[in-house]
Amino acid sequence: MQIDYCDHALLTVEQAIDLYNRSGLGKRRPVDRPDIFAGMLAHANLTITAWHQCRLVGIARTLTDFTYVAYLADLAVDTAFQNQGIGKHLVAETRLRLKPECMIVLLAAPSANGYYPKLGFEHHPRAWVLRGGFSGSAVPDRELS
Ligand SMILES: CC(C)(COP(=O)(O)OP(=O)(O)OC[C@H]1O[C@@H](n2cnc3c(N)ncnc32)[C@H](O)[C@@H]1OP(=O)(O)O)[C@@H](O)C(=O)NCCC(=O)NCCS
Repeated sequence: MQIDYCDHALLTVEQAIDLYNRSGLGKRRPVDRPDIFAGMLAHANLTITAWHQCRLVGIARTLTDFTYVAYLADLAVDTAFQNQGIGKHLVAETRLRLKPECMIVLLAAPSANGYYPKLGFEHHPRAWVLRGGFSGSAVPDRELS
């Protein structure tokens, strides 16, 4: 199956939310807050997308200085396209755009915790999170990973 990878796609908030929902990651991201998604898309400075024909099937969304550290904030592949190497390829495409010395850090979703060792990631026992708040009281505390 032909999958094309792109580092300059202009995604709409609707396209991104639809993919996060199709991948399952939407359960752990604020898909009911398009304003937050707009910021996520606008301010990530390294976003690789995967496409099958005109269908968005994967994303790796990273915030980085390109030289020291890259925070891989979201990795998601459409459920219908999982286990075909797309996630691995998205991380490889991200890696290619960073300096060789640059490390990648992330917080894994529970269901993906066993995934990252397969890509060469090492577990780090001293990751810490200072959670953000939401002004709307109806919005529950969000998971980061
Ligand atoms: C996790 C995810 C990104 C993996 O992408 P993918 O394209 O399905 O995975 P790949 O095809 O690159 O898999 C590479 C290897 O990891 C394995 N793998 C895939 N998903 C896995 C998981 N959740 N846990 C453990 N291993 C996994 C594959 O079986 C494959 O193993 P192999 O090389 O021995 O055959 C994708 O399943 C996904 O989007 N999941 C839902 C959202 C999510 O949890 N994202 C991570 C947020 S931190």
